[in-house]
Amino acid sequence: MNKNKKVIFITGTPGVGKTTVATCLNKELSKKYNSKLYKINEISIENDLILGKDSERGYEIVDIDKLNEKLFEIIKKDNIENTLSNNLEILEIVIVEGHLSHLCDNCDKVIVLRLDPKSLEKRLKKRDYLESKIQENLEAESLAVCTVEAFQKHGDIVNEIDTTSMSIDEVIGNIKKIIFDEKDFPVGKIDFMDWLMI
Ligand SMILES: Nc1ncnc2c1ncn2[C@@H]1O[C@H](COP(=O)(O)OP(=O)(O)O)[C@@H](O)[C@H]1O
Ligand SMILES: [Mg+2]
Repeated sequence: MNKNKKVIFITGTPGVGKTTVATCLNKELSKKYNSKLYKINEISIENDLILGKDSERGYEIVDIDKLNEKLFEIIKKDNIENTLSNNLEILEIVIVEGHLSHLCDNCDKVIVLRLDPKSLEKRLKKRDYLESKIQENLEAESLAVCTVEAFQKHGDIVNEIDTTSMSIDEVIGNIKKIIFDEKDFPVGKIDFMDWLMI
């Protein structure tokens, strides 16, 4: 991968703050760097990668293989455009946001945003989700499903941040530390298993 480019995946259970944080992060980084944000949801819709709907569980099923290919194509195309415009001296930061991002390849860091299931429940209740979908997501957060999947695929480049008592700015500050190798947030330190016992 290009030395002057960093590809960052931001993942986590729905409602943990991915879209909000990634959007603010991109705005801030773009003041100094050639920063871009791609949203997995948008890529999936625009490129017709949705295979169908699991209406019982209220989920759209995305073709992960095709998503992976498309994402690679998009990031490669950015590379070529940068080379052509001789824009290589400015660090390029590509942020990919979405709860399926960690299932894709070719990134420098994976950041899993975590949130205490009790706080997550309050956020998800504001969405028009089925009750079963809310419960499924709370269980997934409690069991660290995204972290486990991300770690299985990407190993040590995976970081996880407990955002429960952090402002959006604090989350962004910590993500910047991860991007610039100033601090690690190794996986396995956050434990929301208690929630399952209640
Ligand atoms: N650190 C935070 N503190 C307080 N509220 C937050 C924080 N991060 C996100 N939120 C709020 O949580 C809600 C869900 O965030 P969103 O970015 O849509 O999550 P996701 O993209 O992971 O589903 C939004 O209303 C957002 O403003
Ligand atoms: Mg989102």
